[in-house]
Amino acid sequence: MIASVQPPEGGQLLSPLEIDPTQVDPPLDWAGLFGNEQPVEVELGCGKGMFLREAARLHPDVNYLGVERASKYYRVAVSRLTKTGSTNLRLMRADGLDVLDRWIAPGSIARLHIYFPDPWPKKRHHKRRIFRPELMELAARCLVPGGEFCVATDHGDYGTLIREILAASMDLFEPRAWPEDAPDRLPTNYALKWERAGRALWWARYRLRSAP
Ligand SMILES: C[S@@+](CC[C@H](N)C(=O)[O-])C[C@H]1O[C@@H](n2cnc3c(N)ncnc32)[C@H](O)[C@@H]1O
Repeated sequence: MIASVQPPEGGQLLSPLEIDPTQVDPPLDWAGLFGNEQPVEVELGCGKGMFLREAARLHPDVNYLGVERASKYYRVAVSRLTKTGSTNLRLMRADGLDVLDRWIAPGSIARLHIYFPDPWPKKRHHKRRIFRPELMELAARCLVPGGEFCVATDHGDYGTLIREILAASMDLFEPRAWPEDAPDRLPTNYALKWERAGRALWWARYRLRSAP
């Protein structure tokens, strides 16, 4: 059972960037939300929002939805991203798997980003991990044909599991080269944090082969 969308804390909407799940019905109507027909990219687990800030600034012709489950980080992201004045951004406090499952219409997003997902190293917590086999099926359903799935991690064991899950979904996705200096490999809070700590980072992107 996937946890449902949480309303913003206190029920108060603080920013025009926020999507109030109590005021809209799934699936999200992208054109209605953004007021245009630009392609939409989604980041699950956006944390404090650094990737979204850069992406929205660099690509005003793309719309971005950030999804964050933890209230503390969600509020930081709302505050920081509201200050940017970018109009091509929206944020939702929700569980990423639930958003893929219910809130995104099939074949309606151009890219899905998941950067530095929580590894939950203790075995009894593994069920909290966002990377699991059904994630790939949900991602494939939400992406447009040829759409991309971008991922990064610093974590050895979890990284191995992520690669195994991706390898098992090669009927749906094919790997694409993603050079270190590619302009769309943007910084995230955790990328910078782990880089500073001297950890090896693994970045990869995949293309959806065709609509499942
Ligand atoms: C390690 S942080 C990485 C944040 C950001 N992506 C970065 O690279 O700086 C992982 C984030 O994912 C969020 N998260 C974990 N599981 C989630 C889920 N199922 N749905 C939405 N967010 C989730 C956590 O609350 C946390 O903010």
